[in-house]
Order: sequence, then structure tokens, then C-alpha cells
Amino acid sequence: MLISGRGSNLVAILDGIAAGALEAEVALVISNEPAADGLRAARDRGVETLALDHRASPDRESHDRLMAEALETHAVGLVCLAGYMRVLTPWFVRRFRGRILNIHPSLLPAFPGHDAHRAALEHGVKVSGCTVHFVDEGIDSGPILLQAAVPIDEGDDPASLAARILQHEHRIYLEAIRIVLSGGYRIEGRRVRIFPAGS
Ligand code: GRF
Repeated sequence: MLISGRGSNLVAILDGIAAGALEAEVALVISNEPAADGLRAARDRGVETLALDHRASPDRESHDRLMAEALETHAVGLVCLAGYMRVLTPWFVRRFRGRILNIHPSLLPAFPGHDAHRAALEHGVKVSGCTVHFVDEGIDSGPILLQAAVPIDEGDDPASLAARILQHEHRIYLEAIRIVLSGGYRIEGRRVRIFPAGS
């Protein structure tokens, strides 16, 4: 998993695995921010971590190549971004094509990029939510795997909306990973078809 900060999605996934809700192993957690809280949370749960400060690499691709090397050394089959605050280079996306997931706190394609909660509130939408999607070369633009809708309340500010959406993120990310690892899906252009479990 790739993170940059708090790591609550990471923790939800690790706790889901520990509780038997997902059959998977998090082989490695990489953060580009060495001080990320998520690194400590992963270590506390016995997961191997790697701090790879992007500022130490001369350019974006060099940094992505270091990440790829570490992921491949750990035989990672699926790369999950959870609050990873950097755009991956086309080189990295090609290398792991179809094997990178991201979670974003809006109903894409609305409000991609930073500050999605504020953007949704400023736009005045009545419903927002979260999206798990495959990563392509664009920003929050790849094929959508799962979404959850979250109604906006009159009194919401970005923090209150973020907190409510986060609960759904934790739920759908686990479910999305389960679907991908089970192989019960097919990407057809922009659409991801999901087959019922056991079919
Ligand atoms: C989440 O809201 C996620 O959707 C966005 O960044 C936030 C990360 O939170 N991409 P956390 O680090 O998983 O707690």
C-alpha cells in the first residue's frame, strides 16, 4: 500500500484482514512522507514499512522506480493507494497496469484532485461520496470499481463531510480489494463489470 499521511484506510484494511473479512496480506507499506502516522500504525500491526522520501530523488520517475523495485521485491500483486498524495508517473502506471487501486472522497468524475470535500460543498451538490477506481495516467480518472453515496447535510463543513465519507471509504475499499483479489470482474473500456460472488 502507498500512503502519505494518517493511514485510516490502511488501518481499516489491516483490521479487516485480521478480523477475517478479507483474505489478503499487506506485504509492504510505503510512504513518501517519512513522518506519516500510517507508517507507525502499520509497524504496530507487524507490517513491513518503507519510508521513501520523494525529495531525495532527482525526479518523479526515479522515485517511482525505487517504489516499483521495493514492491516487486515483495512480490506485490495489487498496489493500493490510500491517501497517497503524489501523482504516479506514466512509467509506474504502465508497469502495474490494471493492478493499482485508489480511493477518492467524491463521486467521480465529480471533484477529482485535492480538496474534494470543499469543492463538493462549494458546488452545492446534495449528495457526495467516495469512489474506488483503477489508476490510469490521469488524475482520479481510471475505471470505477465501487462507489458509495453520502448525503450532504445543511450544516456540513469540509471536516464533518470528510468524517462521514471516511466511514464509507473504509467499507468499500475492503470490498473493492476483495473483488479484485477474487478475480470476479472485467474492465471493459471505462466500465468495470463485477460478477456475483461464486459465479
Ligand atoms: C481519504 O479521504 C482518501 O479518500 C483520500 O485521502 C484520504 C486519506 O485518508 N485519497 P487516510 O490516510 O486513509 O486516513
